[in-house]
Amino acid sequence: MSSTNAPVTSTIVILDFGSQYTQLIARRIREFNVFSVVLPCTAGLEKILALKPKGIVLSGGPSSVYDDAAPKADPAVLATGLPTLGICYGLQFMAHHLGGKVVAAAAREYGHAEVEIVDPAAIFHGLPETLAVWMSHADHAETLPDGFKVTARTANAVAGIADEARKMWAVQFHPEVAHTKHGMALLKNFAVDICGATQDWTPEHFIASTVAKIKEQVGPTGHAICGLSGGVDSSVAAVLVARAIGDRLTCIFVNNGVLRKDEFAKVQKTMREELHLNVVAVDASERFLSKLAGVTDPEVKRKAIGGEFIAVFDDEAAKLVAGTGVDWLVQGTLYPDVIESASVHGPSHVIKSHHNVGGLPEDMKLKLIEPLRDLFKDEVRRIGRDLQMPEEILERQPFPGPGLAVRILGEVTPERVAILQEADAICVEEIKKAGLYRRVWQSFAVLLPVKSVGVMGDQRTYAYTCAIRAVESEDGMTADWAALPYEVLRSISSRIVSEVRGINRVVYDITSKPPGTIEWE
Ligand code: XMP
Repeated sequence: MSSTNAPVTSTIVILDFGSQYTQLIARRIREFNVFSVVLPCTAGLEKILALKPKGIVLSGGPSSVYDDAAPKADPAVLATGLPTLGICYGLQFMAHHLGGKVVAAAAREYGHAEVEIVDPAAIFHGLPETLAVWMSHADHAETLPDGFKVTARTANAVAGIADEARKMWAVQFHPEVAHTKHGMALLKNFAVDICGATQDWTPEHFIASTVAKIKEQVGPTGHAICGLSGGVDSSVAAVLVARAIGDRLTCIFVNNGVLRKDEFAKVQKTMREELHLNVVAVDASERFLSKLAGVTDPEVKRKAIGGEFIAVFDDEAAKLVAGTGVDWLVQGTLYPDVIESASVHGPSHVIKSHHNVGGLPEDMKLKLIEPLRDLFKDEVRRIGRDLQMPEEILERQPFPGPGLAVRILGEVTPERVAILQEADAICVEEIKKAGLYRRVWQSFAVLLPVKSVGVMGDQRTYAYTCAIRAVESEDGMTADWAALPYEVLRSISSRIVSEVRGINRVVYDITSKPPGTIEWE
């Protein structure tokens, strides 16, 4: 990592035409330390050029260029003279607006495909002649605009085009997704070799520019509050803001009654003693548990917890607001939270609404600071490391806002919370002992309201079932169930059954996402 604090010199602008993968393009480019930002495809030329980009990427998108609702970008973005890379829909947009012809492909291509490079244009420098790629398209370019040549093909369609004189490149596949081997090399060829971008965007740059921006936003006397969850996102967000405004940030940590074992005490200690944050801790477990009494429907549960959290937070914030004039709210929202909740930067499709976004108390009239809104979890961990935060926090697996409540199927009662806390603690301990805690995205126990018969000693037992869930994932948006070693499953199971009163059977969840979700509710 660079130790320079020089300003970032190179930007690649990505215009979002609505693909689920748009932000991944930015993240891949940032992975080789070139700064990149996503703008909606509707951003005017002036706004794009104000960022002094070294190059432009046109993202994929779900539409056909002929759809009435096709995302509209000013075709002038194709006449900037800057190196431009079209990806999937970006290729079609380029071909269509420069005088070529895009038609429905004879065979739609979704998923894995093999691409043959037929012209070794600069974009493919150093890549093998045949590429295993990820495709997702129904249209393809039939006639190319003047000056363009075909650079790559699949068995069915054109997979790459270029007009090197005009510095225009395009590929029909998605170089940004992990399934495309050599995708990073292609993006690097574009950003570094073709655009000439310098690889100087580091966590330190992010920290320095974010801290400076927050300082300016909040001003010399403003106050902010932040809801801490104990997880990596809100902690990194809080530390960044504290760097900018010090004690004028107050963190609120709420015990919602469905935290993990000993978490309320542990998190307070770390936040105060290691991160030196100004923390107000509120034990509202009884308030939450009484709201959850009798509730079995997952959505009603989530809403009850979300609503109560806002009420508690509101009460605490009101006390602070009355005293000090708080007018900023810090949130550790990450990009995957945003993409699963709503569309912000461009026309990306909404998948589902949940998580940290969108449930703010509107009448609090607080302005938002979301310093991590464009980042993915592993990028946030990199930033946290540069902020010298303890690994214990940075490596923490994600934990949902509604906590153990969405891992206790059926009614959440204090007795069931206590049982699951014990089982969860054993699961975490054993996974850590096996050295797997960082390798899996999440690993946890779920309490099922199903009782079965067992035998312990000479006694018949009739107790709850516990499901173990462990998944591998890059960002939580898709996940594979983890093939945990049998010995680890064996020790988790035998310890839970012998140490946790109330559970006499353990099962392992072997469902990926999709079609399952990671949490059970
Ligand atoms: P699902 O269950 O939707 O979860 O596959 C995807 C990721 O999001 C986490 N998750 C949540 N995080 N508030 C959060 O802060 C929530 O309401 C919430 N629900 C799910 C989940 O743990 C997984 O990492």
